[in-house]
Amino acid sequence: MSDTTVQELPPFEARAVGRGVARREGPLKVSGQAPYAFEAPADEPLFLHLVQSTVAKGTVRAVDAARALAHPGVVDILDHTSAPRLSGDDGELMVLQTPDVAFRGQVVAVVVAESAEAAREGASLVTVTYDEQEHRAQLRADDLDLYKPEKVNPSFDTDSSDGDVDQAHREATHVVDATYTTPYEHNNPLEPHAVTARWRADGEDGPLLTLDASTQQVHGVVETVGGLLGLEPEEMRVRSPYVGGGFGSKGMPKVHDVVASLVAKTHPGRTCRLAFTRQQMFALAGYRTATIQHVVLAADDTGRLLGIQHEVVEQTSAVKEFAEQTAVATRHMYAAPHRATSHRLAALDVAVPSWMRAPGEMPGMFALEVAMDELAVATGVDPIELRVLNEPAADPDTGLPFAQRRLVQCLRRGADRFGWAGRDPRPGSRLEGDWLVGTGVAAATYPAMTMPGNQAQITATDDGYLVQLGAADIGTGSSTVLAQIAADALEVPVEEVTVELGDSSLPKATVAGGSSGTSSWGTTIVATAAAFRDEHGTSPAAGASTTGSQPENPAADEHAMFSYGAQFVELRVNVWTGEPRVSRMLGVFSGGRIVNPVLARSQLIGGMTMGLGAGLLEESVRDPRFGHIVTQDLASYHVAAHADVPAIEVEWLDEVDGVINPMGSRGLGEIGIVGMAAAIANAAFHATGVRVRDLPVTADRFLDLSPDLPALTDHPARYPV
Ligand code: MOS
Repeated sequence: MSDTTVQELPPFEARAVGRGVARREGPLKVSGQAPYAFEAPADEPLFLHLVQSTVAKGTVRAVDAARALAHPGVVDILDHTSAPRLSGDDGELMVLQTPDVAFRGQVVAVVVAESAEAAREGASLVTVTYDEQEHRAQLRADDLDLYKPEKVNPSFDTDSSDGDVDQAHREATHVVDATYTTPYEHNNPLEPHAVTARWRADGEDGPLLTLDASTQQVHGVVETVGGLLGLEPEEMRVRSPYVGGGFGSKGMPKVHDVVASLVAKTHPGRTCRLAFTRQQMFALAGYRTATIQHVVLAADDTGRLLGIQHEVVEQTSAVKEFAEQTAVATRHMYAAPHRATSHRLAALDVAVPSWMRAPGEMPGMFALEVAMDELAVATGVDPIELRVLNEPAADPDTGLPFAQRRLVQCLRRGADRFGWAGRDPRPGSRLEGDWLVGTGVAAATYPAMTMPGNQAQITATDDGYLVQLGAADIGTGSSTVLAQIAADALEVPVEEVTVELGDSSLPKATVAGGSSGTSSWGTTIVATAAAFRDEHGTSPAAGASTTGSQPENPAADEHAMFSYGAQFVELRVNVWTGEPRVSRMLGVFSGGRIVNPVLARSQLIGGMTMGLGAGLLEESVRDPRFGHIVTQDLASYHVAAHADVPAIEVEWLDEVDGVINPMGSRGLGEIGIVGMAAAIANAAFHATGVRVRDLPVTADRFLDLSPDLPALTDHPARYPV
């Protein structure tokens, strides 16, 4: 990619970096002036509405469109017999190509109309008949058809083994052997998946196909959707100036991008708008697979781990493999001579799972960190001391030195601030009114990733510098932090830097995902700034321009690179109703240098809020008889609302990562969610003595509280009614 390395770049001096510069697009967003994908300007656009299969498996016998086509405003209907052809083998995205139905909710037709209302009404008038087949839609640990995938995401070994976990089991004084489950969860960004597509009219110039897409990576959409349509990269342009959140669900193109492109190709010169309804999000936008996790921790009499075993059963779809890396974080977390992890998949006739904030780490660390709490109880060692005791000197999986492992500092600092000292370890020892109060802690980790292959362009203007690359700002404030980084790399005030993102006609940029964006794009901008200064000096003429490439980072291969966090929760359980409420949350994080404390805090609070949702509320329920998610709206799929969220305290260690990139910063988008659910379950145990191993932690678990809890001795609730 490049012949320089990160280590060869000039030293990076943080001036704008580290300051809470206000989010640049904030005023446009809060005043409603920022156009999102569905609102891209157009004259007389067409509106699209999807028709979804009502069977989980089978083939479409016929699509009867007559009544829909007779409806005023409906102009066209495409199905598998009439849509333009695609080429490829992506079972999710090869839409409207064959009569095969692989899951309930799959797109079987699209209605095109002059208004959104007509399209929606038209879709309700389409009659689809099917030849139905038997389907399988239930995740079970004893499923005989479980299989071992070649790799787990993105390319980790499916299984790992060191030593002999059975021997650890035999030698151990204390063994925690338990099964933990996590439910299906759906990302549900505020802005649903949406696209505005236009195919060039005859005689026009410019790219054949233009998409205004709500995506985490414009170049990825060009590559994938263009590939399906047989377009060269220069024949397609994708823009994503504003994105209303993604949380992973917009990390890869989804069917709406393809369907809108197919309709646009059929109606050249017409602008086509398509958005998922909130209900459609639950079939078509991706989701977090449910998991069934067996964890065995074996420890000596002091709590030192001898063995760590983590076996995961989870789900993919028959139509496309998605193998979540649920047990991978466990490989790097604690020292133990005997360790084993594995992943097995059930390929069900269901919609395709995908990325959701900390995919793998979040459900996997729930299981591991609740198991650690159980071990703390079993050994009588304080949960923080137990983690400190099992700190590895080097990465247990690879043997590589950690670039910066400061989990212990996070735990210690968090314990101080939260007021951990003097905690009575006995469950059910604290009562306030009718509420049992408990506290819990969990560790968090997330890999520090930098994606290779980015480019950037810097151009001198009359009053400063224009920095351009095709990265997507999905609501995190990327254009603001990249301006700060560019300003410091160019050694100019941040006000002199303009950043332009979100367009595939700009230099190539990688996904806003894996908490890798700022590191990947920032590194590229720093290198491009150095090249710009070499080429044009410090007083460049307006128009002077340099395109630079991302430097390599050979030191990264010699280190294990992760962020860490210690997450603390205070939780109350009502002794009469069992209602659990989180009353305090604190996260202390090690994320390298913090580029913008205002935006960093926002990311971490967001992650912790989503973790609160995962801990207490979020659960998508699949009806295996029909194969679809029945809780397909925000009235039945509960996310944390204001009243659920207490004041959240966030803090980070003052530090600089010496390996990852010139800025010394690691990503923060995901780590905030990782330890929350475990900390909640652990606090619930401490409050009540009820060990919840299945998310979410709901009121029904606490209806049968033990009358022997110390704090209930004098409370009327100890008498069963
Ligand atoms: Mo994030 S789930 O990697 O977009």
